[in-house]
Amino acid sequence: MASSHHPVPPSGSRRDFFAKAGSIVIGAALMVVPAVSGLLVFLNPLRRRGQGGGASNAVRVAALRALPENGEPRKFPVLATRVDAWNRTPNVPVGAVYLRKVGPNEVKAFNVACPHAGCFVDFRADKNHYLCPCHNSSFSLDGRVLDPKSPSPRPLDELPVEIRGDGEIWVKFQNFRAGTKETIPA
Ligand code: FES
Repeated sequence: MASSHHPVPPSGSRRDFFAKAGSIVIGAALMVVPAVSGLLVFLNPLRRRGQGGGASNAVRVAALRALPENGEPRKFPVLATRVDAWNRTPNVPVGAVYLRKVGPNEVKAFNVACPHAGCFVDFRADKNHYLCPCHNSSFSLDGRVLDPKSPSPRPLDELPVEIRGDGEIWVKFQNFRAGTKETIPA
């Protein structure tokens, strides 16, 4: 009889077999998940730097000649190429900046997001300052909090600027966490 030549293992060892097989599968899955997510982070520079629109790689924002000589700020959208594991999408809006010419070849940039809760601040030419429409935080031209009653916990977030080539303004764009005194990349 077949059963005499091929004894059925006791149910305890069969359980051991399945338990071992299961732990091998789970172990392999645990190794694969970080590897895959690491790969996604590698492939996706926006995600790598916390999205934030993130891309703190420099992005070309405007031409120097687009800024008034009198130092009045101008608002510009920031567009970046978003890359994920499957797609590369150019010209995705990731935020906006105020640019202000402060010298023949020198520009200051602020992220337009209010550090209180992230509304976009407006530049008020009549008052020569920035005002947040949501809860009235006000900021000087150089980004300092003006009105002590402003709920913003910190000044406007300044961003590094490079002037390249024939007067092209490149900004290392980054969004930051709202509501904190410290400047923390989002
Ligand atoms: S979001 Fe700007 S003051 Fe609240």
